[in-house]
Amino acid sequence: MKNILVTGGCGFIGANFIRLALASLDNFRLVNLDKLTYAGNPQNLADIADDPRYRFVQGDICDASLIEQLFADEQIDTVVHFAAESHVDRSITGPAAFIQTNILGTFVLLEAARKAWGDNQESLQSGRRFLHVSTDEVYGSLGATGYFTESTSYDPRSPYSASKASSDHLVSAYFHTYNLPILITNCSNNYGPYQFPEKLIPLVINNALQGKDLPVYGDGKNVRDWLYVSDHCKGILTVLEQGTLGETYNIGGNTEKQNIEVVTTICDLLDEKVGVLAGDNPRRSLIKFVKDRAGHDRRYAIDASKIKDELGWQPTVGFEEGIRRTIEWYLEHSDWVGSVMDGSYQEYYQKMYDGRPQVTSRS
Ligand code: NAD
Ligand code: TYD
Repeated sequence: MKNILVTGGCGFIGANFIRLALASLDNFRLVNLDKLTYAGNPQNLADIADDPRYRFVQGDICDASLIEQLFADEQIDTVVHFAAESHVDRSITGPAAFIQTNILGTFVLLEAARKAWGDNQESLQSGRRFLHVSTDEVYGSLGATGYFTESTSYDPRSPYSASKASSDHLVSAYFHTYNLPILITNCSNNYGPYQFPEKLIPLVINNALQGKDLPVYGDGKNVRDWLYVSDHCKGILTVLEQGTLGETYNIGGNTEKQNIEVVTTICDLLDEKVGVLAGDNPRRSLIKFVKDRAGHDRRYAIDASKIKDELGWQPTVGFEEGIRRTIEWYLEHSDWVGSVMDGSYQEYYQKMYDGRPQVTSRS
């Protein structure tokens, strides 16, 4: 019997992970600790909320006494740590929350695990696991060639990636110093159901449906390596079950795309699915090139050969299929979109985009 603590389970990847865990694991209980920030929505898991294997606790990972209590009450032996502030643009306008949650919050969890699990060598044989979910953004920005491997030097360039890099270092240090049974995953950009509509793909889907501008930063040629969220979640489970303690595993989609290609693909698929805009305008006409993001990383690309060769994981959902599924999900869940885009989102969006200078129309 495993007692799993998932942090940030009401967010995008956490909610997808909990669904996968409930559907595929045996003999466990799962506690989801989530602060319910703007990015955390209990309705993401409303349909499984009554599952007897599942318990939701609203709380902050920075709250040491709450975390210690949870470890004791629930006899936690497995942690899958998703909770974070996760949006680069927000880290540029307000870095403090990123330092607090991503660095301090991770430290609080590590300390609670160390207190509950002990710090001697035997702890590594106990079967316990602390899996820290991180990002490829810690490695910085690639030029036109090359890939991030597990031994690429860290070179974070945004407050978000710097805070995730700090947390990765802390997690790794707890393995070496305290024998904490840790694992780290660094994954590329995810997309799929339940992603908050401030990130590129859901933002473009929703704006394009509403006939709103589609803001593309800079020249639109920045490259991201896209992975469908269920593949990421399967990768995390694989590392949890088979990974070597103390190791890092890169997880990636092997799907590099320029942002402009992602945006035009979504426009064309929506035109095909729901018809073009009034006046016979294709959705590509909504594309607006806007002032670039500060410190905008040019290219991310993951070399995922370690997890493939050592643990047998590889992506199963290609971009064409994944983006179709994602669009369908957003079309079928307009209520969800409406409910998460509340007043605070509108305020953020206005600050971020409505006043953002347009550069030129390159479409
Ligand atoms: P998200 O922003 O959608 O969700 C974050 C969740 O954490 C929310 O439910 C939020 O309420 C919760 N949370 C925030 N602060 C908290 C706190 N102090 N205490 C408790 N809960 C708190 O994020 P996501 O996209 O699901 O990302 C999850 C994790 O995966 C993050 O650690 C992120 O760095 C990492 N990651 C994300 C991507 C991606 O493309 N989205 C890629 C690689 C890695
Ligand atoms: P995002 O989804 O914020 O993920 P990340 O910054 O973590 O990679 O952005 C993905 C890419 O899309 C990134 O290069 C920035 C760009 N982008 C836009 O061009 N317009 C937008 O409105 C957003 C949110 C992102």
